[in-house]
Amino acid sequence: MKLLSVLSMHQRLILVFGAIALVGSCLAGLVLFKVLSYEVRHQETTEVQGKVELITHLAAIQENPFDVGAFQKSLANLLGEHEYLEVWILDPQGSVIYGKPFPAERYGVPNGRFAFDMPDGRRLRGLGTKIFLDETLNYSLVVATDTKRGDKLLYAFGVTLLAVCLAWVAFVSAFATWAVRRSLSSIDRLSNQAAHIGLQDVSVRLPVESVDIELRNFATAFNHALDRVQDAYRRLEGFNADVAHELRTPLANLISGSEIILGRPRSTEELRATIISNLEELESLQLMVSDMLFLARADSGAVAAELTLTCIRSEVGTVLDYYEAVLESADVRVNVVGDADVLVNARLIRRAISNLVSNAVKATPQGGRISIEIHSDLESVHIKVRNHGPVISEENLPRIFERFFRADSSRTQRPQGHGLGLSIVSAIARMHGGGTFARSGDDWTEIGFYIGRNVMTQ
Ligand SMILES: Nc1ncnc2c1ncn2[C@@H]1O[C@H](COP(=O)(O)OP(=O)(O)OP(=O)(O)O)[C@@H](O)[C@H]1O
Ligand SMILES: [Mg+2]
Repeated sequence: MKLLSVLSMHQRLILVFGAIALVGSCLAGLVLFKVLSYEVRHQETTEVQGKVELITHLAAIQENPFDVGAFQKSLANLLGEHEYLEVWILDPQGSVIYGKPFPAERYGVPNGRFAFDMPDGRRLRGLGTKIFLDETLNYSLVVATDTKRGDKLLYAFGVTLLAVCLAWVAFVSAFATWAVRRSLSSIDRLSNQAAHIGLQDVSVRLPVESVDIELRNFATAFNHALDRVQDAYRRLEGFNADVAHELRTPLANLISGSEIILGRPRSTEELRATIISNLEELESLQLMVSDMLFLARADSGAVAAELTLTCIRSEVGTVLDYYEAVLESADVRVNVVGDADVLVNARLIRRAISNLVSNAVKATPQGGRISIEIHSDLESVHIKVRNHGPVISEENLPRIFERFFRADSSRTQRPQGHGLGLSIVSAIARMHGGGTFARSGDDWTEIGFYIGRNVMTQ
C-alpha cells in the first residue's frame, strides 16, 4: 500500500492492469494445465485398459492345451512395436513368459492400478490382472505405459502456456500504458491551463466542454473556486482603493491646513485651534485604522472570545444612555421591546448595537421614532433597530454592509462616518455564528443582526 502511494497515478494504473493480467493469465493457465494433465493421464489409463482387454480376449481364444510359443507369437503380432508400452505375462511361479525382465523383487506382481519407477529411470503407470491361460487363473498380466510421452506433451504445453501468459501480460501492460496515458492527457492539459492562470488575468477558466466527463465536475468546481477568488480579488482591489481614498482626503486636509497656518505668523489661539482640529482628524484616522484591524481579524476567522451570559436589553440600555443627550436634542423617542439572556462577548455586542443606534440616530428626522426589538428563540437571538428616515434603495440595500459603503454621501462631500459601522456589525454577528439583515420602506429602515445561541468558544 505504501509502495502504491509513492507511485504516480500513471504508474499505479499500469501496475494494477499488469498485475490483473498476470494473475488472470496464471489462473487460466493453471486450470488449462490441470485439465490437460488429467486428460493425458486418463488417455494413458484408457490405452492400458484397452490392451488388457485385448490380451485377455486373445488368451481366451487360445487352443487347449496351451501353447506358450504360439501365444507369444500372436501376442507380438497383436501389439507390434510400441515404444511406450510394456506388457508382461508371468506364470503362477512369477517367471516372465512374455515381456522384458520384470522388477518383481522390487514391487511384487501388481494387481490393479499401479505406478512405479523402473531401474532404467522410466516411470510406468499401468494395470495388473489375472488371466486364464492354462485352465488355471494364476497367470498374471501386467500392462503399463511410460509416462514420458505424456510428460513431454505437458512440458511443451506448459512452456507454450508460459510464453503466451508473458506475451499477454506484456500486451496488456503496453495497452494499459497507452490507454492510461491517453486518458490522463486531459489532466495534463488541465494542469497546463491551470498553470497559466495568473494574477494578471484571473478571468481565465478551465475548458469544461472539451474534457472527459469524469473531469468535468472537477473543472466546473475549480472554475467556481476561481470565480470566488476573482470576486475576492476584485473586492480586495476595491478595498485597497477605498483605503487609499479614505486616507488621502484627511491627510490632504491635514497637510493643507498645516501649510496655510505656517504661511504667515499666527497667534497662539490660531495655532491651538489648528492643532485641535488636526487632533480630531488624527483621532478619526486612528479610529478608522483600528476598525480596519478589527475587520481584518474577523475576516481571518476569529470567533468571539470571553463569552459571558449577557442580558441584551441591559446592553441596549447602556448604549441608549450614551446617546441620551443626542436623542433628547433631536426629540427622538426610543422604544425597546423584548429581552434575551445569551452567552456572548458583551463588549462586542454593545459595539454592534451602538453602531446600529448611531446610524438610526443619524437617519431619524427631528421628532422621529426609533424602535429596538430583541427577539429570542431556541437557536438564535435577533436584535433589530427600526427608525423613521430616508429610504435605502433596493439597489443599495445589499451593499450597506460592505466596507466604506455610504448610501447617502458622494465622495466629494465630507461624509459623516467612514462607512465601516455596519461592516463591523456584520463581523461581530459572524464572530457569534450569526448574520445580518436589512429592510427599508417608504420612510423607514430596519437593520439588525442575529447571533447563534451555540457560539463556538476559542
Ligand atoms: N438606519 C439607517 N437609515 C438609513 N440609512 C442607513 C441606516 N443605517 C445605515 N444606513 C446607510 O448605510 C451606510 C453605511 O452605514 P455604516 O454604519 O456602515 O457607515 P457610516 O454610518 O456611514 O459610517 P460609520 O458607521 O463608520 O461612522 C450609511 O452611510 C447610510 O447611508
Ligand atoms: Mg454607522
